[in-house]
Amino acid sequence: MIEKIQRLLKEIKKIEIKNSEELESFRLQYLSRKGVVSQLFDEFKKFPGIEKKDVGKPLNLLKQELEKIFNSKKENFDLEKNSQLTQNIDSSLPVYKNLPASTHPLKAVENKLIDIFYSLGFDYSEGPEIEDDHHNFGALNFEEDHPARDMQDTFFVGDYVLRTHTSSVQIREMEKKNPPYRLIMPGRVYRNEAVSSRSNCFFHQIEGLYVDKGVTFADLKQTLYYFVQQFFGEGTEVRFRASYFPFTEPSAEMDIWIGTESEDTKRLSKGTGWLEVLGCGMVHPNVLKSCSIDPDIYTGYAFGIGMDRITMLKYGINDIRTLFQNDIRMLQQFQGL
Ligand code: PHE
Repeated sequence: MIEKIQRLLKEIKKIEIKNSEELESFRLQYLSRKGVVSQLFDEFKKFPGIEKKDVGKPLNLLKQELEKIFNSKKENFDLEKNSQLTQNIDSSLPVYKNLPASTHPLKAVENKLIDIFYSLGFDYSEGPEIEDDHHNFGALNFEEDHPARDMQDTFFVGDYVLRTHTSSVQIREMEKKNPPYRLIMPGRVYRNEAVSSRSNCFFHQIEGLYVDKGVTFADLKQTLYYFVQQFFGEGTEVRFRASYFPFTEPSAEMDIWIGTESEDTKRLSKGTGWLEVLGCGMVHPNVLKSCSIDPDIYTGYAFGIGMDRITMLKYGINDIRTLFQNDIRMLQQFQGL
């Protein structure tokens, strides 16, 4: 056995390996599981203890030598392959078509809304998406066991919630400083709803808040009319429906007339021709009080516009989920927004 190993040690020094195919057959012959080395080790296991010492040493040496040859050759071939790859690059070819980043349709709608409200003297603010109960519910006049609290199917994160509306940002702003405020506050909100083409477990709102001395419901209506004419076009019809929110009194929801001519408008309006666009109302005195604002001196209005549906309407998108799938084929259609 020792002689066999010695012979092999001499033999392998003479082997020439010219390319990676030859290297592979070298590996198979000597180093693979059924190769020479493992056969020798199998034989070696059968030797009695005293002889093991004499055989083990040259056997290990043989294995090391083989591995050394294999590794150094492999490194050479890999290097060669890489340099061939880079040599094959034709730097005179025209560059890949430049795909510039583009504005997401939802962002385009948000920007447009911000422009409209800026032109009316509104400022911009934002708040956190993970909220505490106080800002999302408590300070907004949701009583502890009030059924209104069930109105929103909420995702809880420990003691916190994923905000269910941007109205929480109203509270953050009113706690920070004294009136007057004229603010718009866009952002993502979350509700535990079944996901479908019309509704998602998260969506986007832009909150409006105006608090000053002598603000009335007429101011609210006029502002919303103006927004609708600017955004949806002159002559767009609106209707207000009485509604209920714990944080506004009186409260209303506003729809715009989109008709039932096309499949898209039929689907979006559930066949009625009216699309609900926002909730609104006069800020409840309890909300002002919870932010240390005297409701005998100040009044205000608030509204929350749902941005996803009006984006779908504006750009003829018929499934809300496509807004968030990041499919490049969809996003490319909005280049230049
Ligand atoms: N927060 C309400 C909602 O998510 C909308 C709203 C905002 C209503 C402001 C009144 C005033 O449905």
